[in-house]
Amino acid sequence: MENTAEEIRVEVVPFHSPAYKQALGLRERILRKPLGLTFEPEELAKESDYLHLGAFVGEWLVGTMFFVPLDKGIFQMRQVAVDRQMRRKGIGKRMVEFGETRLRNGGVHTIVLNARLTALPFYDALGYRQISGQYFDLGIPHVKMVKFLDGPIDGDR
Ligand SMILES: CC(C)(COP(=O)(O)OP(=O)(O)OC[C@H]1O[C@@H](n2cnc3c(N)ncnc32)[C@H](O)[C@@H]1OP(=O)(O)O)[C@@H](O)C(=O)NCCC(=O)NCCS
Repeated sequence: MENTAEEIRVEVVPFHSPAYKQALGLRERILRKPLGLTFEPEELAKESDYLHLGAFVGEWLVGTMFFVPLDKGIFQMRQVAVDRQMRRKGIGKRMVEFGETRLRNGGVHTIVLNARLTALPFYDALGYRQISGQYFDLGIPHVKMVKFLDGPIDGDR
């Protein structure tokens, strides 16, 4: 059976849950190993306050990302990763939109992120705008991007 975006579920992933461990594995594999890096325990300890999301096909976690609170009404989107064989099926988009809706309804008005240059077209397609020139982080080119969210959709702020 072909996997389509219709079969994908996006859910909040509780810190230290089994799904969080799957998400960490996916992040290591996609975002760290290719750079010869790994996550340090001090880095992971900070993640308890973050909003973690997972995209699932059945019990298989195929995508993950998290949002970090920066300031009142401002969050940073980080570490968006989709399993290589599941890309260009709308999974990244579904996760970002799920997160944006949740944050917007919680009073968040601005999302910022540091995009790898290779992922810029993805964020651009989702309405994020480049606000910096190119710089290097972890040895790879990045740009800073931002999106200003509209008011809450269901008025429950
Ligand atoms: C970036 C990433 C998360 C995108 O996830 P995805 O599930 O493949 O993206 P989607 O299918 O939801 O794409 C939504 C839209 O973004 C754009 N887009 C996504 N990937 C793109 C690419 N490689 N090139 C150009 N446009 C792209 C397209 O407009 C796409 O819509 P379309 O497929 O109908 O044309 C995924 O490629 C990935 O995990 N990359 C490696 C890790 C990484 O670089 N993460 C970002 C770190 S800042």
